[in-house]
Amino acid sequence: MRRQSHPLKILVTRRIPEANLALLKRHFRLDLYAHSTAIPRRLLLSRVRSADGLLCLLTERVDAELLAAAPRLKMVATFSVGLDHVDLAACTARGVPVTHTPGVLTETCADFTWALLLAAARRVVEGDRLMRSGGYAGWDPLMLLGTDVHGKTLGLIGFGRIGQAVARRALGFGMKIVYHDLYRPGRAVEKELKARHAGFRELLKVSDFVSVHTDLGPGTRHLIGRREFGLMKPSAVLINAARGPIVDEAALVAALRSGRIGGAGLDVYEREPKMAPGLAALPNAVLAPHLASASLETRSEMGRLAAQSLVDFLALGRRPLHLANPKALKRS
Ligand code: DGY
Repeated sequence: MRRQSHPLKILVTRRIPEANLALLKRHFRLDLYAHSTAIPRRLLLSRVRSADGLLCLLTERVDAELLAAAPRLKMVATFSVGLDHVDLAACTARGVPVTHTPGVLTETCADFTWALLLAAARRVVEGDRLMRSGGYAGWDPLMLLGTDVHGKTLGLIGFGRIGQAVARRALGFGMKIVYHDLYRPGRAVEKELKARHAGFRELLKVSDFVSVHTDLGPGTRHLIGRREFGLMKPSAVLINAARGPIVDEAALVAALRSGRIGGAGLDVYEREPKMAPGLAALPNAVLAPHLASASLETRSEMGRLAAQSLVDFLALGRRPLHLANPKALKRS
């Protein structure tokens, strides 16, 4: 039997789950950059030249330069909920629809936010290091004292899907919840989650844990910096599993080092994969390598959504799910 050759080519910029590739292979020719690190920019710009569709990650900037290098490009599907690496206006102007993967990672990211919060509050990583180093000499009433989580105040900056899922878990810990967001979800949600809307400064002042769940955009870059750390309690713990540049990382290092705040749990960094000088040496910071959505189930589902949206639009001529720039379709 002759192998059917598919007319359209998809550039996939990283190794992704096998099942996602199998779905794409049923409809397209694939150009797969099957590595565990980001495709170099120059290679991306050269390989995208012959691509009809792009399945990319948050490590690839999709901007005017990339679009100019990709004359055949008809669609971009990003294997992420975040879209800060994509110039949506430029894609729309070119009539290139962009899809992302909201919804499927909400609960997984909320779980991980809690992993960071609990680890930072209860010094789990320091304890792990002590055990492995052979330094544990037996139970001691004053060893590695952390701070309680139950009954404390959790401040959520951003109260969308993930912020609300984090709040739902906080109910089990009997926490008081305050949130700050320009969009208020309505009384029913506030009541269910026992969450009170607060001004930004008030939230920083009253919270024992401040957790960031907002998008990265021009209005949120360095939203939390030296002035904001100055408003927080000296015992406060900052959690960021959203985007690194929302926090001024040099100011965070200074605040952690001086005891201006108590601790931090970070999954994202301002210049990822690099960290600000000094951060790695601070024992009161729990540091994870952008793992919030990294469960087997969720990463498979994110990949399935991204692949399916390419199949829907490019192979089946359907409107894809989770279109971030619907106006792009009106142009084509
Ligand atoms: C996203 O999807 O935007 C996350 O940062 C990775 O899961």
